[in-house]
Amino acid sequence: MISLVSSTSLILCVFLCRLEFDSGSFVSALTIPTLGTFKHVGFSYYTNSWFVLQEVTTNQWTCILLCQRNVSCFSLAHNSATNACQLHAVPADNGQFKKDLIPNSQYKLFIRQLQPETTCPDSGWRYLASSKKCYQYFHPLLSFYDAEKECNTYGYGGHLIQPSTNEELDQLNMNNTRGAYTGIVWQDTPAGAFYYLDGRLAVWPSAVGWYGGGTYSGREDNRDCIATTNGNNPPWYQYWAGSGTEYPYTCELPIV
Ligand SMILES: *[C@@H]1O[C@H](CO)[C@@H](O)[C@H](O)[C@H]1NC(C)=O
Ligand SMILES: *[C@@H]1O[C@H](CO)[C@@H](O)[C@H](O)[C@H]1NC(C)=O
Repeated sequence: MISLVSSTSLILCVFLCRLEFDSGSFVSALTIPTLGTFKHVGFSYYTNSWFVLQEVTTNQWTCILLCQRNVSCFSLAHNSATNACQLHAVPADNGQFKKDLIPNSQYKLFIRQLQPETTCPDSGWRYLASSKKCYQYFHPLLSFYDAEKECNTYGYGGHLIQPSTNEELDQLNMNNTRGAYTGIVWQDTPAGAFYYLDGRLAVWPSAVGWYGGGTYSGREDNRDCIATTNGNNPPWYQYWAGSGTEYPYTCELPIV
């Protein structure tokens, strides 16, 4: 199903890719390396603008091409009746983001098929053997969802840090000069609880200290994500994912 086309065959590719697309759920990788193919996984789209990179009106083929050309695009939804093309800034099949999809038979949902990374992106990242992940603390200040979108762009499975062990906690605390967002958010389903962004139930590392002292004692107000203050092993606190202040963040990237 997947045809690989050299950079000198763009015109041929445009023709082939169209055939390829019409005949099944995959589209060829065109000429741009590492961007992967697209898989049709169902019928749904987003109404939550946090997850939308761009919306344009165009045919299905161009919609996929637009996503393929943008490294920040991880999935897309295309409406064949209206030609609405919605590019997604997050992988829509992944944990937290899946539950925000709105089922709609008009919208075909396609997910970019990415390969796991085999090395850390560059020397700015620190590898932890016990978790098989690379970590980096980023100083630019971003909102929770913008920080998560940024972490997604470093590679397959990239997220805000999702610490469950004290060793992972050390990665979060390292270089933590202004506090940081973590990849832990509240979800009402399947059970009201804090979950990692990849969909697993959150496990608090034993060394975590909570703001005001003591242990985790349930959800506060409507605060739906977890951040830390600055310093070495600083307390964690609950914060607003959608409308909170911009903070630094630590990204993680799994390595195979
Ligand atoms: C991806 O799309 C967004 C939204 O249109 C745009 O701001 C960004 O610059 C694009 N990135 C690349 C690498 O083209
Ligand atoms: C912390 O900073 C040091 C020195 O710049 C760097 O080597 C290390 O990778 C950084 N750790 C993280 C998790 O960003």
